[in-house]
Amino acid sequence: MSGKATLEYDGKKIELDAAIGSENEVGLDITKLRANTGMITLDPGYGNTGSCTSDITFIDGEKGILRYRGYAIEELAEKSSFMETAYLILYGHLPSQKELNDFDSGVAAEAGLHYSMKSHFDGFPDNAPPMAILSSMLNTLACYNTELLTTATEGDGFDIPASKIISKVRTIAAWAYRTSRGRPYMPPCPNLSYSGNFLHMMFSQPFDLHEIVPEVEKAIDLFLLLHADHEQNCSTSTVRMVGSSRANLFSSVAAGVGALWGPLHGGANAAVIEMLENIHTNGIKLSDYVDAAKDKNSDTKLMGFGHRVYKSFDPRAKILKEHVDRVLKALEIDDPLLDIAKQLEEVARHDEYFIERNLYPNVDFYSGILLRAIGIPVNMFTVLFAIGRMPGWIANWREMLSHNQRICRPRQVYTGENLRPYVPIGNR
Ligand code: SDX
Repeated sequence: MSGKATLEYDGKKIELDAAIGSENEVGLDITKLRANTGMITLDPGYGNTGSCTSDITFIDGEKGILRYRGYAIEELAEKSSFMETAYLILYGHLPSQKELNDFDSGVAAEAGLHYSMKSHFDGFPDNAPPMAILSSMLNTLACYNTELLTTATEGDGFDIPASKIISKVRTIAAWAYRTSRGRPYMPPCPNLSYSGNFLHMMFSQPFDLHEIVPEVEKAIDLFLLLHADHEQNCSTSTVRMVGSSRANLFSSVAAGVGALWGPLHGGANAAVIEMLENIHTNGIKLSDYVDAAKDKNSDTKLMGFGHRVYKSFDPRAKILKEHVDRVLKALEIDDPLLDIAKQLEEVARHDEYFIERNLYPNVDFYSGILLRAIGIPVNMFTVLFAIGRMPGWIANWREMLSHNQRICRPRQVYTGENLRPYVPIGNR
């Protein structure tokens, strides 16, 4: 495949180099376009624009392929753990037993929060959205780690803040939940797994430790693993954008939380449950709901359906759908929302509108039912998405800086007023 393309406009011709990836994706390199032609490209929403080259995650949306550092998501989901996968995404290889033990204990050692951070939690109103608490407390962490506010990408300067944030994001999330319930903060328990410790900090009470059910611990771990990275999605691109100004890791991931919060992105898992509950509670006919989702004049969407990249099944949705069945059986839960979700999927999958637009269930369609089954409140769903995505955000921040990438500063095509003279207020 030739590594060149020719662009011709208004009598001018320019040759563009083609960057060809390890999976034969082709990206036309336009880094010299404006300097050589005065022109730029235009791509609102960046559906056709590659922001970087990356070694971390590969997605083939047509084939429903997702790989972290070359490993298939299906294999990692079956054989790996969130901690091992986080190490893989951060450092590029599956860890040896010693590397994993060291990483695990480094993360475990960082689970606590400085005691005075408690007063920040106490300052939030009971109805404070947990995503708002998460974003602000990640930035607050920077106040307690001023010596780590660097852009180091190697050694302790990177390893320590990375482990701190991966560990403490979980504690902040659990304490955000307890703030909203008016419950005392539960300190981490070092001899529990990453996911077990999260459940403990969420649900244990003083003198009444929460029983960590293995199926629930595994479900949380799988949920986090499946969300650990997803190439240049909205929130990861935000982390890269903020980090490109050489902002520190704490403020970069705090910005990622803000982007993830939106219902078109990480907020969709909660929106799916609200949609299914609405259908269930109000006895809405599934075909009527699907018709509303197709109607451009309605602001109804089939939440959990569609994806910018996947034009076939999101492999994570497939894995979650199978796992939800197993967890509900193990916990002897019969959730009517799961039946509604499956029937809704069936109706949509046979509907021309969805078929011709390649709209399939995405990661959010079944994930909310899994979280609901294990007792996570809906307003914490996107928080768990953020906990899972943290290794991916950190790895992308590091990769962008290790490539010494210039500050992100897109151009625009101006469509406003041409030059006009100022009019004194008396003459307007
Ligand atoms: C995540 O990018 C990532 O990798 C994200 C993520 C990750 O791991 O980081 O995978 C996580 O965010 C998953 C997506 C969660 N969001 C939702 O489930 C919300 C519902 N989905 C849609 O809002 C939408 O599908 C998006 C936002 C996911 C994708 O939007 P795009 O790529 O901009 O697609 P589009 O809006 O241009 O849709 C193309 C067509 C349009 O119809 P036409 O104008 O062509 O007639 O499909 C329609 C859309 O109206 N469409 C939908 C629909 N999704 C797209 N119609 C009804 N219901 C939907 N859900």
